Amino acid sequence: MFPLNTWYVAARSEEIPTGRPLGRRICNQPMALFRSSAGQIAAVEDFCPHRGAPLSLGRVEGDTLVCGYHGLAMGCDGKTVAMPCQRVRGFPAIRSFPIHEEHGFVWVWPGDTAKADVAAIPKFEWLGNPAFAYGGGLYNIGCDYRLMIDNLMDLTHETYVHSTSIGQKEIDEVPCQTRVDGEQVITERFMTAIEAPPFWKMALRLNGLPDEQLVDRWQICRFTPPSHIMIEVGVALAGQGGYAAPEAVKAASWVVDFITPETDTSIHYFWGMARKFKPQDQALTDSIREGQGKIFAEDREMLERQQLNLLAWPERKLLMLNIDSGGVQSRKLIDHMLAAEAHT
Ligand code: FES
Ligand SMILES: [Fe+2]
Repeated sequence: MFPLNTWYVAARSEEIPTGRPLGRRICNQPMALFRSSAGQIAAVEDFCPHRGAPLSLGRVEGDTLVCGYHGLAMGCDGKTVAMPCQRVRGFPAIRSFPIHEEHGFVWVWPGDTAKADVAAIPKFEWLGNPAFAYGGGLYNIGCDYRLMIDNLMDLTHETYVHSTSIGQKEIDEVPCQTRVDGEQVITERFMTAIEAPPFWKMALRLNGLPDEQLVDRWQICRFTPPSHIMIEVGVALAGQGGYAAPEAVKAASWVVDFITPETDTSIHYFWGMARKFKPQDQALTDSIREGQGKIFAEDREMLERQQLNLLAWPERKLLMLNIDSGGVQSRKLIDHMLAAEAHT
């Protein structure tokens, strides 16, 4: 169950080059995303009205997506423009989806077209801001999107799943605080005078700071519906003010998580990091992306096996502990959205 009248990240811009469409299932709907020769982005059902071939196997010519089977030319609006030796006026239209590209991300609205409002696409401090550098990737993971939200709104799992990179026992020892602030759920944890775990030692070194000193560390997870989670993370040399310390003694970033349901039990997980230090340093962006990619790959097996268990034992009640409150509150906001959609 996912809200449909909302914007999801469909792709990164570079996944849709001119000329070649991208087939992607979003919220159980197969879509063909393509870019016209003029650079305009479009999304239509991945279904040719002639014989049902996937349009994503075709190619882009001018403003049309040409079916790879018999050459039907589909317009950005889902109406057939032409087909060799055929009159196409009576051809049934297929669905087109509201789509918008901004700062390297392509957003799609899988629900009621009349309700789509580009102004509702979320804004984030780091997005399109030259003071930040972004690096990230995409994983397809076989789990309900809400399991990924639970995972990211409860970082105690780092101690166990990511023990060699960002995990440390102090995460377990310092309780997290969760609050709801309007349309946002915030779960945060502040640790003081601890040893930096390996990933943060690397970040300190790369930022020209000593890595053997004690640090203050923070994790501030912010969920906005339906499934965007931005996590402020970082360390500062201990005793300099922690989260409020001057930039010169910090290594700090936003962990970027856009979770797009593919089916009821699979997601497109757009992960990344937007960092505020040394934004021009491409080699640093690459090495952080590599490290982060390995960390998120560690979650995959846990989530996929958890999903299989839940499918096998759907009647079992699960516990809700204080560490789960971020996920629980996030699901409440999603449930509000689903209830609102059901009444319209
Ligand atoms: S199935 Fe697309 S043109 Fe025939
Ligand atoms: Fe994780």
